[in-house]
Amino acid sequence: MVKVCRDVYWVGAIDWCEKDFHGFEIHRGLTYNSYLITDEKVALIDGVKHNFVRDQLRKVENYVKIEDIEYLVVNHIEPDHSGSIPEIVKRANPTVICSKIGKEGLEDYYGCEGWNFKPVKTGDKVKLGTKTLTFIETPMLHWPDSMMTWMDDGKVLFSMDVFGQHFAGSERFDDELGVGEAVKWAKIYYANVFMPFGKNVLNTVKKLRDLNIEPEIIAPSHGIVWRNPEIILKKYIEWAKFKSDKKAVIVYDTMWHSTEKLAMAIAEGIMSKGVKVRIFNVRKDAWTDIMAEVLDAKAVCVGSPTMNGTVFPSVAGFLTYMRGLKPKNKIATVFSSYGWGVGAYEEIIEVLKDMDFGIIEGLKVKFKPTEEELEVARELGEKIGEIIVER
Ligand code: FEO
Repeated sequence: MVKVCRDVYWVGAIDWCEKDFHGFEIHRGLTYNSYLITDEKVALIDGVKHNFVRDQLRKVENYVKIEDIEYLVVNHIEPDHSGSIPEIVKRANPTVICSKIGKEGLEDYYGCEGWNFKPVKTGDKVKLGTKTLTFIETPMLHWPDSMMTWMDDGKVLFSMDVFGQHFAGSERFDDELGVGEAVKWAKIYYANVFMPFGKNVLNTVKKLRDLNIEPEIIAPSHGIVWRNPEIILKKYIEWAKFKSDKKAVIVYDTMWHSTEKLAMAIAEGIMSKGVKVRIFNVRKDAWTDIMAEVLDAKAVCVGSPTMNGTVFPSVAGFLTYMRGLKPKNKIATVFSSYGWGVGAYEEIIEVLKDMDFGIIEGLKVKFKPTEEELEVARELGEKIGEIIVER
């Protein structure tokens, strides 16, 4: 039994062993958080993934009967949160509170014949007794239906995916896990879910301030609950603005270690200027981890052999993933080894230009880099390091 604050309990589920969240590689499982509010009227905030419905209902029954749930708040319809909702509606027939777009989405997913909906917009309120819930629409954070719920008593913001982390542990609060560790997981989550929506993040932070919402607790739909909300709010503002570190990320794949040798030589050159480097092999490292480093790097260096006249498949896949997440304010370069066609170099340059990265001319070498070519790679690294130091 986990108490978040007076009359508010965590009734979520822990998915300890999940390593693949709809294509995201995650390392430590995840939680689907749900919160029960036991005022004069009982409200349940969010569901869980469908295969954890019994787990959620068993936890709810520690406090109330399922039939006592009067309001079911659906902050977000994505199935990791809405999967248990049809069963809860069947058992409790609650008033289902969600955004107008959320209602349409739930109907698309579940049919919702006979459901008692109450669509809400920003500023709408529901009084539970001593507590009042206020709803805040947050479209495209990260789906069109998304919203948050504010509880005045206890100053709790139920923030759905925003401020969450893919992390499964016995700890439920940031101060239990350690705030630094919590921020580490939150950064990976932000980079892979919210990076394209930085402007919406900043607008939402402003909207919360305009509504005089100053949370003492932020309770997201994944991971730990923040009892130090100012820390994660500050981090979200920095990440949304792409505040960067003096850091370069090198991502590559290699066939016979030639492109890899170039990667290491470029890294040497960058480091010689006192700049941090992170190197990832896109076939061996988790793309989710790579993007967490790209988020606050100033430079991204992409290496690929040419294979079959084009970009190596793993690098092409990673570029598609990175382009979708829309990182901003970066410089970039390309390095490539080839045998008899130089397709990869030019194709990657075009992708990086399309992403509005500032392009630094890179290098391509035939088969295996010579000592002279490795020196050119080191010089390229030095040039990138100098630009980073000056920016
Ligand atoms: Fe955790 Fe957007 O669902």
